[in-house]
Amino acid sequence: MDYETVSRLVTRFEENFGGRQGLQCARAPGRVNLIGEHTDYNGGFVMPMAIDRETRVFFRTLDGGPVRLWSENYGEWDEFDLDHIERNEAQRWANYLRGVAHVLQEAGYELRPIEGIVCGDVPIGAGLSSSASVEVAAARAYCAAAGLEPDPKELALLCQRAENRFVGVNCGIMDQFVSVHARREHALMLDCRSLKHELLPLDTSAVRVVVCNTMVHHELGSSAYNARRARCEGAARLLGERVEGIRQLRDVTPAILAEHGGVLDEATLKRARHVVSEDERTIGAAEALRAGDYEAFGRLMNESHESLRRDYEVSCEELDLMVELARKEPGVLGARMVGAGFGGCTVNLVRREDAGRMADAVRAAYRAETGIEPETYQFVAVGGAGVERV
Ligand code: GLA
Repeated sequence: MDYETVSRLVTRFEENFGGRQGLQCARAPGRVNLIGEHTDYNGGFVMPMAIDRETRVFFRTLDGGPVRLWSENYGEWDEFDLDHIERNEAQRWANYLRGVAHVLQEAGYELRPIEGIVCGDVPIGAGLSSSASVEVAAARAYCAAAGLEPDPKELALLCQRAENRFVGVNCGIMDQFVSVHARREHALMLDCRSLKHELLPLDTSAVRVVVCNTMVHHELGSSAYNARRARCEGAARLLGERVEGIRQLRDVTPAILAEHGGVLDEATLKRARHVVSEDERTIGAAEALRAGDYEAFGRLMNESHESLRRDYEVSCEELDLMVELARKEPGVLGARMVGAGFGGCTVNLVRREDAGRMADAVRAAYRAETGIEPETYQFVAVGGAGVERV
């Protein structure tokens, strides 16, 4: 978040809450997933990096009374009592913050009320995890206010639970995990079952990560997401009746799917084929990154998009167009849709010297084809969430 925005927010805090004594700031980044899409809730592998867009919560601990929060993005107040937290039906944004307080308390953490301002610059609904960044920043703020230091893994899992139970999206662990654990100039390879992770250096003198925002967001998003997840779980159950040791699609190899895929209906088989092949690609991409082989990495990104488009069917016209336009540009090693799908962004791996020009060319071509003015971002990989005194 730029310096001007931060000082504006501090001034607003002083006006709203009278002075800045006791003021602290919790922050948590959004993410872009390089590869490993729709694998996290199947116990598989993902490789996101945190981006230099974040949510900040400027807060002060109170002795008693309700939690009072102002959303700078929505221009609204929310107020709730810690001993009786309900969903806010009128203000969706508030449920991320309420939900996190709720799950922390349910897990036994004793919280104290806070007052503060929430502000994020992660594009909303673009597949860059604005939700997880709000959850993680809120969790950091509540914990710091109460002098608590939960284990980082536990913190990520609780934020995921808040989104599953309180917001109603059955998301996996990727977004919250990377927002907590990311490291500067690294991508994070995560095994979503064991939560073992490895930080892999990204050489920004060789390649850049360019993200292109289609600026569209098709509404069926969260219901289609939950439906995909349910179908994957169904596929794992059926395959598990035939092959021992299958708990999730993570346990299914391409050979198992080739032999036993016949028990699945056609649509379910396609979904399973995406997940099984995406895990293989993500493991391959980690090897490519360890070897500094960005061309191989880019090829796997391209294959990932085709699989998401054809087999998982979560792409859309605008995403396909954005990918196609990018692939025409020199220096583009790989291009794919990112996040849940049905709109939002694509992620592109581009040779450093070509990145600026590629972004300009793709913006112009997308505008000419659709009449929509897209946004592009050159993100750097940043570190995970934290709290600081202001
Ligand atoms: C959303 C979810 C993640 C993950 C991706 C798809 O971002 O929040 O948990 O499932 O979709 O890879």
